[in-house]
Amino acid sequence: MVGIGKVNDGQSLEPFCADLKLKNPAGTMMRINIRKLTCSLIAALWIPLWAAAQMPTKDEGWSQLLPPGEGRAQVLESCTGCHNLKATVHERKDRSAWTKTVNDMVTRGAPLFPEEIEAITAYLAKAFGPGVPKPVNVNTATREDLEKLPNMKSETVERVLEARRKAGPFKNAEELRAALGMPAGDADAYIYFLKYKD
Ligand code: HEC
Repeated sequence: MVGIGKVNDGQSLEPFCADLKLKNPAGTMMRINIRKLTCSLIAALWIPLWAAAQMPTKDEGWSQLLPPGEGRAQVLESCTGCHNLKATVHERKDRSAWTKTVNDMVTRGAPLFPEEIEAITAYLAKAFGPGVPKPVNVNTATREDLEKLPNMKSETVERVLEARRKAGPFKNAEELRAALGMPAGDADAYIYFLKYKD
């Protein structure tokens, strides 16, 4: 008990600190440097965390399934801050249901202006409306799965299956396009219905 009393007593610590300064003239400098070091260590630990929170989430290739169109850029900008687009490209809903989802995201914190909401819901309702087929995994799809896709001619199905045998499994649209000899700019619509993992 006597020991604890001594430690808590500023009086008894004072000579100890004074003694330290006296014995080591660099004592003050040392203390400042340690404080600086602690601060920069804390900053070094927090800055990447803070930056990660500001950066879009990992895309994981899902944005490849966004077909071209008005509103696409806004979706990419506004809908990737908290999660990637996996759920979005797999859902099929009409305009009013997409409006509900987008409004729901706004209440969760998606930073959107009313006119952006309009453009985004119009895009989503067109690209991922009720009549639009769900994406098919090109690495595991059967011939029948591929045949069901819009804009997919039977000769294209053969080319895709052949390319998969030779060069698959594909990791992304770029690899598939290369195997098919399809130029990057070639917006053959079936490409937007193909995914590379589930
Ligand atoms: C501020 C963060 C945030 C942003 C930005 C955001 N979301 Fe979400 N989103 C969430 C959260 C949180 C969930 C999980 C909700 C749950 O399942 O409980 C979610 C879930 C979803 C889902 C799956 C569940 C559902 O409600 O259908 C879809 C689809 C979706 N978001 C689409 C979008 C779209 C489209 C945008 C852009 C307009 C967007 N999100 C932007 C936070 C966000």
